[in-house]
This record gives sequence, structure tokens and C-alpha cells, in this order.
Amino acid sequence: MELEELKKKINEDFNNLKLNLQTLTELRAQYLGKKGPIQEMLLEMKNLPNEEKPKLGEKVNALKQAATELFDAKKKELEERLVEEQLSKEAVDITLPGKDINTGSIHVLNKVIEEVEDLFIGMGYEVKDGPEVEQDLYNFQYLNIPKGHPARAMQDTFYVDVDRLLRSQTSAVQARTMLEYGGNKDVRIICPGRAYRRDDDDATHSHEFTQIEGLVVNKDVTMAELKGTLTIMAKRLFGDDREIRFRPSYFPFTEPSIEVDVSCFKCHGKGCNLCKGTGWIEILGAGMVNNNVLSMCGYDPEIYQGFAFGVGAERIAMLKYGIDDIRSLYANDLRQNKQFK
Ligand code: DAH
Repeated sequence: MELEELKKKINEDFNNLKLNLQTLTELRAQYLGKKGPIQEMLLEMKNLPNEEKPKLGEKVNALKQAATELFDAKKKELEERLVEEQLSKEAVDITLPGKDINTGSIHVLNKVIEEVEDLFIGMGYEVKDGPEVEQDLYNFQYLNIPKGHPARAMQDTFYVDVDRLLRSQTSAVQARTMLEYGGNKDVRIICPGRAYRRDDDDATHSHEFTQIEGLVVNKDVTMAELKGTLTIMAKRLFGDDREIRFRPSYFPFTEPSIEVDVSCFKCHGKGCNLCKGTGWIEILGAGMVNNNVLSMCGYDPEIYQGFAFGVGAERIAMLKYGIDDIRSLYANDLRQNKQFK
């Protein structure tokens, strides 16, 4: 093949063929391989007269070099294009939304308990626990409710035997703690936990519910401190502009006893359906620890005095979050739980 013709042919192939790495390698072998036309020309040179050899040799070598450069450059170009294609195929679109990680959420009752615990720990209280299967002794007798006392009727519960029952109130932990502390140590505790009663299950009652009990015993605590403490709690739970009021009441384990109302956070005291038109919502029972309880639990009522309160966590949750059926708190409906993430 003529040199010029070969040059033309290579250029044509390069321009007209749709080359990829494979066809390029084939084409390279075809032109530059051992049996290709360029190699052939170089081999044939030995048959030429000596004076023609350098002239033609120079031309063939120039062609060989030019062709080699052409193939190398094309190879590089094709390889780069391949890498680019790969990269664009594997590219991550950082504007797409991420995968949702399914996290759990706290149950609203636990949320209320944690909030109250947090507040009271901050005021120097200790968090105490007590058994849910309780002795009649702690649940009633040490709390000034002897066998046959009419106050038991309101708190009828589930009995395991004559002396043991599912506790009807977390107040049982008051007696346990005072006895544990031995009559000469200040007490400042809250106790959240389950309590049980033989109650009808309706929108506001459940046979199983959650109370948070508070007890302070020392030499000079007064009802003023009780009022201050409960005011702080009401504000923390229901908003800074809340106020509380005391109403006289009766509990066997406190004297005097009070019921505590918080000013309605829906109508701000004007009267609405939530507060039944009164402007106030009852939230808990409290009082100054009855002298009989103090002395039965080892504290001399001539030296020591105390206040106590008991609040229902369900009641707080229902008021605070507008939950209208207590049973929904135990239904394990994730749609409710997820709202408290
Ligand atoms: N134990 C009472 C109840 O279940 C609530 C209560 C009232 C607790 C007054 C107290 C208290 O500690 O002093 O209804």
C-alpha cells in the first residue's frame, strides 16, 4: 500500500468509525500490529537500494509515530469518557430527602412524670419507689385509715389476701419512707407510680392509674411552703400565668386537708366547658400530715410537721393535652404516642 494512501485510510477510519475501546484496539492491531501495513513497509525496506532507504525510512517512521500518537490520544479520550459516564451514573443526588429513621416516642404519662420529677429534683426532692402489691398496713393503717374506716370504701381495690392488695394510692410510700428514715431525718420525696381501684372504666376513670405523691417532713415546714410549691408546679405544667386556690377537704392522713384548683388555662378564669363555667380546675389533694400519721411512722408531732400531696398523672396529661378519654392512654395507639416525640 502506498504511504499516502495508508495515511488517508487511517484518518478516514478515525473520522468515520464509531470507536470504542474494543474497536480501537482492533484497529490499532490492524494498522500498527506485527502483520500490519506499516510493519510490512519497514520489513520491505531491506529490498530497496541503499540510497532510498533513509528517505523512505524517515517517512514510514513518521507515519508510525503519528499513528501511534493518534491511537494513544483516542484511547485516553475514550477511557476518560468511560470514567465520566460511570461517575455520572453513580452520582448521589444530595437534594433528595433522606431515609426516615423510625425513632420511638415517649408515652405521654411518662412525659408528665419526667416533667414533674425534673421540677422536684430541682427543688431538692428525692424520687422514691414503692411496691404495687402493697400491705394493708402501709396503704391504709399507717395512713390513719384503720380496718373498717369508712374512707376505705372510696378506695376499694383488688385484694391478694386479707392483708395484701394492689395499692390504691401512692401515699403508701409516705409511710414506708418515714419508717425507713427512722423519725429523725428530714423527708423531701416524690413518688410516681401505679395505683389501682375497683373503679368503673369510663372516660375519666380507670381501674389502673398513675399518681405522683409528694411528702415533705421537717421541723418547720408550713402550709405556705405547700402553697408555694404547688403554685410552681401548676405554672410549670399549665403555664406561667396560672394561679392556684385551696379549698377545704378531708383526707384521713392530713389535717387540715385541702383540694387544690388551678385557674383554667383555656378561658383564663372567665368560665368555659373545660372548667365547667367556674374558671377553676381541680387538680389534686393535699394537706398537712396528720399527727397520728407522723407518730405512727416514728416522727414526734411535737417536733416535726409535714405536708403531702397526691396528683393524678392522667389528669394532668388529659388537661394539658386535651385528651378526652382516659382509656386512650392505655390503648397503645401509636398515633397518640407519636404526637409526643
Ligand atoms: N391519696 C389521695 C387520693 O388518692 C391523694 C392525696 C391527698 C394524697 C392528700 C396526699 C394528700 O398525699 O396529702 O385521692
